[in-house]
Amino acid sequence: MFSAADSLTHESSLAVTGTVRQDSRAPSGFELDVSDLKVYQEVSKEEPFPITPKEHGIDFLMDQRHLWIRSTRQHAILKIRHEIIKAVRDFFDNDGFTLCDTPILTPAACEGTTTLFEVKYFDEQAFLTQSGQLYNEATAAALGKVYCFGPTFRAEKSKTRRHLTEFWMVEPEVAFATVEDTMDLAERMITFIVQRVLERRSSELKSLERDLTKLEKISTPFPRISYDDAVKILQNNGSEIQWGGDFGGGDETIISQQFEKPVMIHRYPSAIKAFYMEPDPIRPEVALCVDVLAPEGYGEIVGGGQRAASHDLLVERLKEHGLPREVFQWYLDLRKFGSVPHAGFGMGIERAVTWICGLEHVRETIPFPRMLYRLTP
Ligand code: 4AD
Ligand code: MG
Repeated sequence: MFSAADSLTHESSLAVTGTVRQDSRAPSGFELDVSDLKVYQEVSKEEPFPITPKEHGIDFLMDQRHLWIRSTRQHAILKIRHEIIKAVRDFFDNDGFTLCDTPILTPAACEGTTTLFEVKYFDEQAFLTQSGQLYNEATAAALGKVYCFGPTFRAEKSKTRRHLTEFWMVEPEVAFATVEDTMDLAERMITFIVQRVLERRSSELKSLERDLTKLEKISTPFPRISYDDAVKILQNNGSEIQWGGDFGGGDETIISQQFEKPVMIHRYPSAIKAFYMEPDPIRPEVALCVDVLAPEGYGEIVGGGQRAASHDLLVERLKEHGLPREVFQWYLDLRKFGSVPHAGFGMGIERAVTWICGLEHVRETIPFPRMLYRLTP
């Protein structure tokens, strides 16, 4: 047994039998007194495990992703990802929400026509969903408080540390809710998730060398500022932005660095937001929407708001955005048969994991990332 153990190579697979004994000197607090060893497969010395403790480049590690996920750091991240997903589900399940999954194959765009993945659907054209929101609006009208949680797709040509082409999004939608209600919900959910991870995954956070004091500060209420005020903050900090412009990654970083908690920016100009946003009745040029920016420069983790309740306004918006009315007929029906104010949001799981784990790049937060130049493994 000793000689078999002696010649074992890195990542050979084996079963070890023995007696577990408490020992405070061991990193795990336990030692194993071995009585037997069974080797399942021995990694050949001619073709050793490709990942070693030396420094590998990120492209190499990404090519070896199927093996890289065995390392301590990747383990910790994926454990925390799981905890976040479980916390999200517990939060909504315990708050009277009904899970209503939305389709992945869809006939129409939700978040603009420039980031659609097209697929052939027999003789028709279909797209991979960008968001479950439009279907959530139908299920919310039926069930009141709903959420969907599934993969979403964006053909984003941007190669940034925040963008994936396939990511998981949780999206709650609530009938009779306003943009203010949706901000309350978002801050409660985010606080719940962070506390849950601190409670159950602090050893993983520590192994990632995450500064826990930063996460311990996350509690309700979060600061709420208008888009107008966000533009002023940016201009005072040297940004070139003018009212009406969208925030870039750098702008988001500047704003989030002013606060220790996630910051909620509401009422963006309607012109830079999606077609379905409800205009502010007092100032119709801005929308009743909200983006939540994570602290420490991690950028937008949540986007949402109140949905346009008027049938005629939506018809006009579809036209302005060049969207075909026929495929949205069912969506317009929701405004004909008992339309009520309603609101919701979407949180990208990988963005949340990136922030909570304190990672440089979103690519390590999902077992097999899909990005502009990456479809394998
Ligand atoms: O702000 P977005 O585009 O909003 C929506 O899709 C709404 N329909 C959601 C809703 O109201 N139900 O996306 C929501 C969130 C972002 O805040 C971000 O966390 C994440 O989805 N996200 C991405 N994550 C990774 N890679 C990308 N390319 C992402 N695009 C959006
Ligand atoms: Mg957004």
